[in-house]
Amino acid sequence: MQSALGAAFGSEYADADPVIRPSQFADFQANVALALAKQLRRSPRDAAAAIVEHLDVSDVCREVEISGPGFINLTLRDEWIADRVQDLLSDERLGTPVQERQNIPIDYSAPNVAKEMHVGHLRTTVVGDALARTLEFLGHHVIRQNHIGDWGTPFGMLIEHLLEVGEDSADAALLKSDPNAFYQAARAKFDGDEDFATRARRRVVALQSGDAETLRLWHDLIELSKIYFNRIYDRLDVTLTDDDLAGESTYNDMLGPICDELSEKGLAVVSDGALCVFLDGFTGREGKPVPLIIRKSDGGYGYATTDLATIKYRVEQLKADRIVYVIGAPQSLHLRMVYETARQAGWLGDAEPIHVQIGNVLGSDGKILRTRSGAPIRLMALLDEAVERASAVVAETRPELDEQTRAAIARDVGIGAVKYADLSIAHDTEYVFDFDRMLALNGNTGPYLQYAVARIRSIFRRGGLDPAQATGPVLVTEPAERALALRLLGFGPTVVQVGDTLEPHRLCAYLFDLAQAFTAFYEACPVLKAERDDVRASRLALTAATLSTLVKGLDLLGVRAPEQM
Ligand code: ARG
Repeated sequence: MQSALGAAFGSEYADADPVIRPSQFADFQANVALALAKQLRRSPRDAAAAIVEHLDVSDVCREVEISGPGFINLTLRDEWIADRVQDLLSDERLGTPVQERQNIPIDYSAPNVAKEMHVGHLRTTVVGDALARTLEFLGHHVIRQNHIGDWGTPFGMLIEHLLEVGEDSADAALLKSDPNAFYQAARAKFDGDEDFATRARRRVVALQSGDAETLRLWHDLIELSKIYFNRIYDRLDVTLTDDDLAGESTYNDMLGPICDELSEKGLAVVSDGALCVFLDGFTGREGKPVPLIIRKSDGGYGYATTDLATIKYRVEQLKADRIVYVIGAPQSLHLRMVYETARQAGWLGDAEPIHVQIGNVLGSDGKILRTRSGAPIRLMALLDEAVERASAVVAETRPELDEQTRAAIARDVGIGAVKYADLSIAHDTEYVFDFDRMLALNGNTGPYLQYAVARIRSIFRRGGLDPAQATGPVLVTEPAERALALRLLGFGPTVVQVGDTLEPHRLCAYLFDLAQAFTAFYEACPVLKAERDDVRASRLALTAATLSTLVKGLDLLGVRAPEQM
């Protein structure tokens, strides 16, 4: 297509985007003629004709046709499709290219010490992890950065409370199981006990000045919280480990120099006693400029200064090409101001900071998800409930299985359902958390795809066959075979697209479409009972390719595919 563009219109057009899209009337349509017509001062149909005249795709396409105002419809040769699927069967990457390696720090999850993770954290954790897995698969150097909230004024009261209850007490153990309860207890003392509040404030100062005993207690708090985080990550199959922790406190030494540098560069000025950055285009009500506060009037640093430090660190130390922040959509203004400040300070270089905005998870009342009593939902309880509900389903569908097997399936289905629900919806849109919908066996859900995988595995089991041995040769004749084969070729391009756009829901949509194409194929084309041996071998190969694609796709999303369901 590129060389035809060059030949038709001159070499300056050889790099033009051919604008190839799936088509209703053929396999693909190239819309480049419409895109270029004006520039070329030709009618789109005329431009299309000039392209087609120079287009030599006879080995790939069986038909090239101009339609409508100037679409070029392309219909692939069945043999060409079959050959490409044949290639997939021996390709571990399933047609996914290895991209030029970039360093990509991904900031995700980021729960707060001594606080319960909530569903919002769940979503950034799940989306961030899917992006990390996908970008790694594409060949990039992904550096996971878990920016936990491990610093700030609440730590005075938390440390003081830990000291009072004792580090080995049952109260302290709450940090591992129900951190909110620990937090609330500390908070209640702080609000109700003047003496305690005074001690807590003194403790903040001691912490900031590096007092050894205070630091030791602080460390204990972090260690206990880590146990809680890791329990959640483990339950969720999230790839974060202790090595990925890079909490707010790790940037402490950078904060002073950052303020100095921004002042020297004339970017930060004192306003009402606080050191602030004012940026063009960031105004609030009545056109009043919104400040990015980098040092409060009491001398303390805040969230914004720390995030400026994350940029500096990730560009200078981690040599980032892209810096991905998977963070709640409400923090968009904060991040835009941080990025712009970093840019003006000259810290960004060629690195591109990107905010992957995470939309809110709502309850059925359309408000942020909470329990009936109004308290934030405990994430672990939520995951337990998902697994419990899944096990009720499995008990009904597979009563013949032993309890242990059923429990393992329920675990994969319950957790998979919750994760997939987070992933299948565009990451920046809100959605209503609904167990019934996410656990449904039909529709674009985790269990639907897991079931599709299990069903394919059972085809091979029934035939006493190993999918790895199903190597074709692939033949494409029936329309349903052709449709499935075409879908299989879409895996690599879809993964590339997810890496470019940082939108895992595109992979979900692809897998759902593939699973549906498989169902249609399986209904129309007998596999084990195919009449001819060569047809059977080909259909088994298509089935095996579908299996590896679904399993690999789910793996990139971080969703397990149980052996049976
Ligand atoms: N700990 C924060 C919260 O719970 C999220 C931090 C996100 N990461 C960042 N670099 N700001 O809301």
